[in-house]
Amino acid sequence: MTAANLTARRAGPLKGVVRAPGDKSISHRALILGALASGVTEIEGLLEGDDVKRTAAAMAAFGAGVERLGSSEHGGGKWRVEGRGGFSEPADVVDCGNAGTGVRLIMGAAAGFDMAVTFTGDQSLRGRPMNRVLKPLGQMGATWICRQGGRLPLTLKGGNLRKIAYTLPEPSAQVKSAVLLAGLHAEGGAEVIEPEATRDHTERMLRGFGAEIEVRELGAGRHVILPGGQTLRGTKIHVPGDPSSAAFPLVAALVTPGSEVTVQGMLLNPLRIGLLETLGDMGADISVTNVRDEGGETVADVTARHSELEGVEVPPERAPSMIDEYPILAVAAAFASGRTVMRGIGEMRVKESDRIALMAAGLAACGIGVEEEPETLTVVGAKRGNHLVAGGAGVTTHGDHRIAMSHLILGMAAEAPVSVDEPGMIATSFPGFVAMMRGLGAEIGEAVDA
Ligand code: S3P
Repeated sequence: MTAANLTARRAGPLKGVVRAPGDKSISHRALILGALASGVTEIEGLLEGDDVKRTAAAMAAFGAGVERLGSSEHGGGKWRVEGRGGFSEPADVVDCGNAGTGVRLIMGAAAGFDMAVTFTGDQSLRGRPMNRVLKPLGQMGATWICRQGGRLPLTLKGGNLRKIAYTLPEPSAQVKSAVLLAGLHAEGGAEVIEPEATRDHTERMLRGFGAEIEVRELGAGRHVILPGGQTLRGTKIHVPGDPSSAAFPLVAALVTPGSEVTVQGMLLNPLRIGLLETLGDMGADISVTNVRDEGGETVADVTARHSELEGVEVPPERAPSMIDEYPILAVAAAFASGRTVMRGIGEMRVKESDRIALMAAGLAACGIGVEEEPETLTVVGAKRGNHLVAGGAGVTTHGDHRIAMSHLILGMAAEAPVSVDEPGMIATSFPGFVAMMRGLGAEIGEAVDA
């Protein structure tokens, strides 16, 4: 079989001003809540990545009117969702592609209705645990048929749900959101207790759709209370720039000598800025300007300049606020001096791939010292005297977009080029990644690999 790999090689400084694509978490939620609501929801700046397009198609299959109206002024799409105040049974299997967020949130939403729906996804998604969502939905009264040990494909049967008070066993905004979406149509609603706070876009957006929801601080965590039997009303949503995508051009600037890159309109939700805090601890030259409120979320323009980074111990309690950013943090750590220790990141192993294992393998192949433990990744920064990051490897991504983008960034500043396989998967979250990086001065080319 022949596949076109992508190769990044060292080039001049990266310079420019860009806009991150729309936030993936918020884009999924905007479509799902829009479809559950009564009336019209208009979405500006929707991320048009493959994951979100799957959710848009799923919402149409559940009976919502879903239409792309055109391109938004600042990138992304302008979409219109006409919700029918609930879901009707789809005629076919719902295929969520690569999207864990998509399938888990949609399962939660669908569980509120008296219907049977079969869910599936691509090979990566079929390997990921769904029990974490099925368990609370089962306690609410949903049932399912699944012959794959809690993995897709599975058929979920919902309706007549009862109230739940659920303490999250793992810090997962997807599970929290699935329970809350099911709770909308449960007798008595739903309560979720999260010992560690996770991204709160569902809570914020439910409010935007007119729902009553209470959030109480609970030490480092939160107690979310959603009364049942609520009707959502269509609204307008402006999707801010995704900090998990912005992380790639920002870290590229930090590790490439002479660079200065600004990402405009980046979401600065306090539960999503763990990477910025960590890079700051490492001595990164990052400035945040033009802080403003857009549709209930804080956004700003963020500028990163090439910096001499130092390794740090990342506080484990920071993990939920940067769980998708550890792969690119590991790349920043490779160019630092000293060791960067990332503890309490076991959740990384159940993402689109086992990201601890793949980052450890990829960095080692590029000449970086790494230590891998079940819940910890340690990167030994290459910057000792004249010692540089070697690169020069072909990296297996297992179809994981963030593993691919992270290693391409590494290749932009390493001594020898770095290639990644399955680069098409980058489009699940960041369709314009290669064009954006080239526009900033990066050299990324296709190599046909037999
Ligand atoms: C997401 C939550 C996180 C994150 C994912 C998006 C969300 O997953 O990794 O990319 O939108 O709720 P978990 O909830 O499994 O931690």
